[in-house]
Amino acid sequence: MAEKVFIPPIKIQGIKTKIVPLIKENLSFDQDTFWIEPFMGSGVVGFNVAPTVAVFADLNPHIISFYNSIKNGTITSHIVRQFLEEQGKLLSEKDGEYYYEVRERFNSKHDPLDFLFLNRACFNGMIRFNKDHQFNVPYGHKPNRFSKAYVTKVVNQVKHIEQLLKDNSWTFVCQDFLDTIAQAPNRSFIYCDPPYIGRHVDYYDSWDDQKEALLRDALVSSNKSFMLSTWDHNDYRNNEYINTTWSFCNKITKEHFYHVGASEKNRNPMVEAILTNYDI
Ligand SMILES: C[S@@+](CC[C@H](N)C(=O)[O-])C[C@H]1O[C@@H](n2cnc3c(N)ncnc32)[C@H](O)[C@@H]1O
Repeated sequence: MAEKVFIPPIKIQGIKTKIVPLIKENLSFDQDTFWIEPFMGSGVVGFNVAPTVAVFADLNPHIISFYNSIKNGTITSHIVRQFLEEQGKLLSEKDGEYYYEVRERFNSKHDPLDFLFLNRACFNGMIRFNKDHQFNVPYGHKPNRFSKAYVTKVVNQVKHIEQLLKDNSWTFVCQDFLDTIAQAPNRSFIYCDPPYIGRHVDYYDSWDDQKEALLRDALVSSNKSFMLSTWDHNDYRNNEYINTTWSFCNKITKEHFYHVGASEKNRNPMVEAILTNYDI
C-alpha cells in the first residue's frame, strides 16, 4: 500500500509531496542524527521524516514565522479553526473584495494567520512575493473555499504539527542556506531542495549558477552526508548541472507531473532527481 504522506498547512510551488517516500527510502539517517533542511519551503520532507532534532530554515520570513508561532503557542489548532471559520464566512459574503482586503492587511501587518488564509485562498496555492516583499498572488476565485470539511482538514494539519513539536526538538530559522549549512553540528544530515534555476517566481526564491556552485562548495566542505533534490530532465531539456556541478554524486530519478501553469497543456512530465554524496 502507498505510504500516507502528511501534507503541511502551508503549501508552496515545487512541494515535494510526491517524492517523499523515495526520499525517505534513500536517506542516510538515524534518530540520533540532526536533520538540517536549509530550504524548508512547506516542510513536507522533514515533517514526514519526523527527526528528533532538526533545524528547518528558509529565506522566506513568513514561513518561519508561521511555524515559530505554532511552536510558541500564539497559533494553536483551536485559534486556526476560529480564524478560518470567521474569515471563510467573510470570504463567502464578499468574495474577491475580501481576499484583496486580507492581502493588503497581510502586506502591512504580516500576521501568520493571514498568511495561512492567503495561501489557501489564492490562485493555485502559490507563494509569491514581489521585490518590495509584497505578497502578490491573485485570488483563487473560490468564495466557498473554507467549507467545514476544508477548515477541519487544515486544523488537523496544524494539530499534527503541534504534536510533532511536542515530541521533538525543532528550530525554525530565517536565514540564507550558507549560514544553515555552516552551523550544522557534527552528526548532521543535510537535505537540500533549492529553487530550480530559471524556474523561480518569487523574491525569496531566486537562484542562479553562482548560488548552485556556492551550495555545492558549502555541502562538500561541510563533510556531512547530504541529499539534494533537483530535476533531471523534461521533454525539452536536461539539467546540465547534474553532469557538471554535481557529477561526483549518486543519482536516482522519478517521473512526476510538475505543475508549471494553470492549464493542463502546460503540465509537462518532469523527471525529478535525488542526488547524494553517499552510496544509494
Ligand atoms: C523548492 S522550494 C523548497 C520546497 C520544499 N522542499 C517542499 O517540498 O515544500 C525552495 C525554498 O528555498 C527557499 N530559498 C530560496 N533561496 C534561499 C536561500 N538563499 N536560502 C534559504 N532558502 C532559500 C525559498 O523561499 C523556498 O521556500
